[in-house]
Parts: sequence; structure tokens; C-alpha cells
Amino acid sequence: MDKLQIPNPKSQTKSQIPNPKSQINSNKTNPGGREKLITAKETDDDQILNISLRPSRLADFIGQKELVENLKVSLEAAKKRSEPIDHTLLSGPPGLGKTSLAHIIAHEMGTKITATSGPAIERAGDLIGILTNLAQGDILFIDEIHRLSKTVEEFIYPAMENFEIDFVIDKGPYAKTIKFNLKHFTLIGATTRAGLLTAPLRSRFGIFHHLDFYEAEDLVKILTRSAKLLNISIDKDAAEEIARRSRGSPRVANRLLRRVRDWVQVKRDGKITKEAAEEALKSHGIDKLGLDNIDRKVINIIRESFGGGPVGVESIAATLNEEPDTIVDVVEPFLLKIGLLKRTPRGRELTRQAYEHMGFSRTPKETQEKGLF
Ligand SMILES: Nc1ncnc2c1ncn2[C@@H]1O[C@H](COP(=O)(O)OP(=O)(O)OP(=O)(O)O)[C@@H](O)[C@H]1O
Ligand SMILES: [Mg+2]
Repeated sequence: MDKLQIPNPKSQTKSQIPNPKSQINSNKTNPGGREKLITAKETDDDQILNISLRPSRLADFIGQKELVENLKVSLEAAKKRSEPIDHTLLSGPPGLGKTSLAHIIAHEMGTKITATSGPAIERAGDLIGILTNLAQGDILFIDEIHRLSKTVEEFIYPAMENFEIDFVIDKGPYAKTIKFNLKHFTLIGATTRAGLLTAPLRSRFGIFHHLDFYEAEDLVKILTRSAKLLNISIDKDAAEEIARRSRGSPRVANRLLRRVRDWVQVKRDGKITKEAAEEALKSHGIDKLGLDNIDRKVINIIRESFGGGPVGVESIAATLNEEPDTIVDVVEPFLLKIGLLKRTPRGRELTRQAYEHMGFSRTPKETQEKGLF
């Protein structure tokens, strides 16, 4: 158990409450400080716009049909019983709506939400203030929950299970454990790597939802909604073109929409047509599949330096001077999804489609074999 020197837990609550917003923000940095168009990570620009674009009710949440249906049932059942909703784990690649869903759940349940993130909670003590301040039915949202430290994680178990926490006060022979009862709250955890969650933590969640990449038709709806909210004029086939290049992510779709809008305001009459969208996205290095420079670099490195694979993510990241997390969270899931990359027990390997997309007629192996004869 975590050794905490807390004489009176109650009196600590106020001062212990960190500003949840600023905690989340501090963890959303753009790696390398570069503006990357397709990075599914949240940039500052996104954060400002999210305020207006983030759906606040379940009815405004587009796509993820199965998830929405199941969530509706859980919400309705909880409301009928006048009970808080079960602890919920949301997983899936960045930018697909986990944070939005957490806020929607709070909104639909009519409760308060306190948001923080795994890396922001350094010591179990950081959580005491937050937990003791939660009212009945309130929601504690922990983003990147897979990055909680082990001691913090263990501290959370009894809070999730029995709505109580244990403090150890004093040291040595005088050490005493004090139980503190919490209100019946709901923990919503979000993670891009459900696989990294420990089994005991995972087993304490009652509801699991996985968000998958969005279909182009859902992205068209999201783009149309965003365009309306931002007062942008866009053709249907232009929205389809942007949707196709948004790599299945609403966050990327919204970002591309803004970049295309900038482009048409400077170079055209401000209206987004299909042709203008194509030009604008091309000028940003976004190709027909939605790949950008970093995706293409990853493909090229695997082909040129590793003979097409198999190769480990660490080696790819080191060669590219990128964070392995960026490759694993942002680049890889989409390349896997569209079949340009495959995972083997020995590492990542390029597929034939990857060579075709990049305009190579032969794989490195075929080139080698050809060279022999
Ligand atoms: N289903 C949806 N309908 C409409 N807009 C959506 C939907 N899902 C996400 N968005 C938009 O995409 C943006 C990104 O979503 P959100 O921040 O919830 O993603 P996330 O999964 O929490 O990402 P991360 O893992 O990086 O924290 C939102 O601000 C919102 O504008
Ligand atoms: Mg989020």
C-alpha cells in the first residue's frame, strides 16, 4: 500500500484538486513541435475548435452505431435504477471520440465530470483530493489510463470496487491505516492501448467500448456538421474527398477541413469544391489514401533500410528519429487497417499494396531474385 502522510484527508481536498483541464492540456503536446496534419494527437488549434465541434449529446455523436446502441442501453438502465453508470473503459486509436464520449456520458447522466490523465497523477496523494470531492454519480475521467503508475493503480482498486480508499498515517510503529468512504462515482478510463492495461485494472471495469476507425460516409456527416458549425460552404463531393483522406478519424477530418478552408479563402473564392479540396490537400502532402509525409517515410524506411521487413517499431522509430509512440499510436494502426502493413511475430512487414501505392512494381525480395537470373 502507498505510504501517505495525511493527517486529515478532508482538509486536504480543496488544495489537492489540480486543475483537471490544465493537466490534460499539458500532456497533449505535438511531438517535436511540428505541425502535422494527420497526427491524430490533439493540437492547441484542435483544442480551441473542439469546444464548438465536440458533440455534447449522444444524438450528435455520429457513427460507431453498435457502441452508441449499447451505451444507450447502459445509460437508460442506470437512469431507470437511479444509479450511477458502471465504470467504463473506452479504447481505440487517437482522435476517434473517447474524450467526447466521456463528456457525453456525463451530460446524459446529468452529472459533473472531472478530467485528468494517467501521467498527470504522479502520486496516489494526487488522487485523494479528486476522489473525496466526487459527489454521488459524478464522473472521474482518466485519459491515457494505461500510463498510471503501479502504486496509483493499486490505490484506485478499492476506490473502484468498494468506493473506499485507505490512507496510512504516521510512520513506523505508529503507522495506522484509515479507511475513507467515497461517494458512488463512475470511473471512465480512456486508452489508445487497451493491451497495456493490467488484468486487475481491466477486470474492475463493468463496461468496455472499443472505437474503430470511421467509415467514409460517417466522416462525410461529421464534416458536413462541422462545416455548418464553422460556417464553411462545402460541396457534397468535396466532403467525400476530404472524408476519404481523413484516415478514418473525425479529428483528422476536422483538421483537414480547416486547412482546406484556409486554402480556398486565399487561392479561390472561399467555396470548397472537390477540385479545390484535392489541390489543397495535395499542397499539404496528403495523398489519395490520406497518407502524409511521415506515413510515406515509414514505408520508405521499411523498404530501403529493412528490405521490406519484418522489422520492429523501435528500429523504425530510431531510424526516423521519431517517438515510437507516434508510430505505434498514429501511423501503424491506420497502415494496418488499410492493409499496407502487416504484423508478424518478427515485426512489421510491408504488403504488396504498399509497394503498389508507392509506385514500386516489385518488392525488394522480387528485385533481389530478378537480379540473380
Ligand atoms: N462521433 C463523432 N461525431 C462528431 N464529431 C466527432 C465524433 N467523434 C469525434 N469527433 C470530433 O473529433 C474530435 C476528437 O475527438 P476526441 O477528442 O473525443 O478523441 P479522443 O478519442 O479522445 O482522442 P485522444 O485519444 O487523442 O484523446 C472531437 O473534438 C470532435 O470534434
Ligand atoms: Mg481524448
